[in-house]
Amino acid sequence: MVGATAATADLTTRRWKADDMPDSQFMTALRIIRAQASTELASIQQHRMVYEQLDSGSLNGLDREVVEGMHRTDPTGHRLDAISFSKKRVCVEELRHHMQMAGVLTLDESFDRARWGHHWATETLEELFAMKPGEHVLDAFNIEFKSVMDSATFMSLIDRVGKFQLEMQHHFLYGPMAVSMPWMRWKEESYHLAAGETLMKAIGAAAIQGGGNFGVEDLQRTINMWYPRGLEMFGSELGGDLVKGVFKTLKNGEAQAFYIEEVRGKIRDVNVAMVQSKLRCTKDEAERVVARIEKGETVHDLSRSDLAFLPDRRFFRIRGLQEFGDFRLPGSDANGVGYVYLPYDVHGNFLTHGGKPVERAEYADYLKTVLPERYMSSRHWSFVKDEFLFNDKWGEPTAVRGPSA
Ligand SMILES: [Fe+2]
Ligand SMILES: [Fe+2]
Repeated sequence: MVGATAATADLTTRRWKADDMPDSQFMTALRIIRAQASTELASIQQHRMVYEQLDSGSLNGLDREVVEGMHRTDPTGHRLDAISFSKKRVCVEELRHHMQMAGVLTLDESFDRARWGHHWATETLEELFAMKPGEHVLDAFNIEFKSVMDSATFMSLIDRVGKFQLEMQHHFLYGPMAVSMPWMRWKEESYHLAAGETLMKAIGAAAIQGGGNFGVEDLQRTINMWYPRGLEMFGSELGGDLVKGVFKTLKNGEAQAFYIEEVRGKIRDVNVAMVQSKLRCTKDEAERVVARIEKGETVHDLSRSDLAFLPDRRFFRIRGLQEFGDFRLPGSDANGVGYVYLPYDVHGNFLTHGGKPVERAEYADYLKTVLPERYMSSRHWSFVKDEFLFNDKWGEPTAVRGPSA
């Protein structure tokens, strides 16, 4: 388990009844369980946006290209069936995961015993069942799936955050929650991650082969869209001190650092699969070629721009970024609180104009060049614009120490 120590593994410190947790611990436990339960229902809504199209044969646009491209590079021709099956299995398992969270809240009647006049288990479940796309607890689950590329990248990047949370929460203070984590970690997420990774590699291989009218750029933009939301699922990079050792094994920033390195490896695997398919060579040879390309060489006409890369952790962040601590909102007496949309590019450069952060409209124009076209007309992008980027209530953040390089 990531970050586990003898102290966090000590079962004698667990609370087995919700009643045994004082108010602050009860509310923290509830907040974490609620967030996890919400993601399960939300991701089913998201997956359905794509898989119903796969089944009905009504594919058009980019997805038609992607699926046909993959078919042409798949000698068995069975890949479409495999995707469709795999997505249904994922949805069934997410529903089971939700039921497990609902079980944690409802099988212990003391979770529902009135605290401050609230029956928290009942109220939380009612709230979760009523949530529609766009209303879920975590941002990653409010982005519509519009392509099978979203399904693939979501499973590899966003389910991966789930894996980290499940591992860390195996040492959760509330015992029934702690002991319910391993099933999802080992029986569920292992498959979801593998399904996402395999599909990303297949899409990458088809893209570099010219299997359709789409390219590595389309996959890169999809990664640029999901990765920042995955990073934010860890919470503020400066936070997590209070949950460490009680609800999780690591602070937010510590867990996120492991995640970043793991995702970097998965993007590299996609690159290896692309090179292998392009050069028709062994995996070992492809790994050596990728290593040389990463150093800046051009090998067999392939250079860095032909491959995918991991965006910088500062790109397109709404919340939680450590560097927000270098900025202060007008009228605020604290640094890095609230939401400060800082204009970093995909490589982590701070975009400035005349020594000041670029205008918000200019940043929005930049985002159009690195995010999927389908995202720029989505509900989530409107939400980002209305609530954050162009919302006057945040004012113009002023640098306190200046952005770190
Ligand atoms: Fe799940
Ligand atoms: Fe999952």
